[in-house]
Amino acid sequence: MTMTLPRILAIETSCDDTSVATLEGFQVRSNVVYTQVLHEQYGGVVPELASRAHMEALVPTVDSALKKAGWALKDVDAVAVTQGPGLLGSLLVGHSYAKSLALSLGAPLLNVHHMEAHMLAHFLVEPGIQETAIPGFPYLCLTVSGGHTQLVRVDGLGVYSLLGESLDDAAGEAFDKTAKLLGLSYPGGPAVSALAQQGTPDRFQFPRPMVKHGGLDFSFSGLKTHTLNTFKTCEAQGEVSDQDRADIALAFEVAVVDTLLIKCRRALEHTGLQRLVMAGGVSANRRLREVLAKRLGSKGIQVFYPEGHLCTDNGAMIALAGALRMSAGECDGPMAEVRARWPMAELAPPSDAHSEVTS
Ligand code: KG4
Ligand code: ZN
Repeated sequence: MTMTLPRILAIETSCDDTSVATLEGFQVRSNVVYTQVLHEQYGGVVPELASRAHMEALVPTVDSALKKAGWALKDVDAVAVTQGPGLLGSLLVGHSYAKSLALSLGAPLLNVHHMEAHMLAHFLVEPGIQETAIPGFPYLCLTVSGGHTQLVRVDGLGVYSLLGESLDDAAGEAFDKTAKLLGLSYPGGPAVSALAQQGTPDRFQFPRPMVKHGGLDFSFSGLKTHTLNTFKTCEAQGEVSDQDRADIALAFEVAVVDTLLIKCRRALEHTGLQRLVMAGGVSANRRLREVLAKRLGSKGIQVFYPEGHLCTDNGAMIALAGALRMSAGECDGPMAEVRARWPMAELAPPSDAHSEVTS
């Protein structure tokens, strides 16, 4: 079945990025992300400051997204918004605004699950990207973000089976904590990755957590302790040099990537799936993309990931998830409330959502 997708304006404020996007079909018309740099000085997101910053940034970000798309408000068919999971105060800012906007336009309000949006983000088409690179269902999704590390079997819109997840820190959280230890800026993933490029290969060998454990769950807290202990050993031998930091960053990154590779390979073997999709902020990591594409590609697995700026939090993925659910016949009323905690297991397919995704 071919779906006709409407023109959507979407708002994402679940954490520390204020993002507004416009989407027509699968085509991104604009995707404006305002990143709250104010958290950098605290080494992590401060929830109260995040909601206040969303309040200041939201209206100008909406204006900017509309202007870039060449749209007026009257062009919007539906308003999509992140309903959860995320920081309560931050979610409330975006959700209250989206509710009022939808009501004033007489347009439907599409309430979106943030993690579902990540898992569908590779369906987005930006100007200049060839649509042949888009996979269909089913696929294995590795979702690696600041709050989640999950392996999910995706059989259709809303048809998700959780195969494995982190028992403690998420992969992104581990990157952020390592960055803090090494004196790098927040968010730490890109900073650790950039520093790792100066690292000496094989100087340190870090453990690959949980790989001997036969299952598909992850645990990054042991790796975090090992990283800390290595740093302390360097410290005990004198001042920790820039080269020491780079070598630690590299050993850490290689261990995380290797662990994710081993678990993905195992999940693909267990399920027999032939496609792997990467999602979430950590999937912007260059080493992860290259290693998974090469090592799984050589086994005949097709590996997909969104453009880097569509891996991290953005409004376009919220628009797409909302559009897909709306086109499959789902539409909540404007009375829905935000859900700071919202287990993915509670997601269900819209009644006729098993159809093939075609634009
Ligand atoms: O998906 P996301 O933008 O927000 C959440 O929903 O959590 O993910 C943010 C996480 C942060 O922990 C950040 O450090 C990490 O993604 N990240 C990266 C990279 N870019 C962002 N981690 C490793 N390498 C990167 N290039
Ligand atoms: Zn996210």
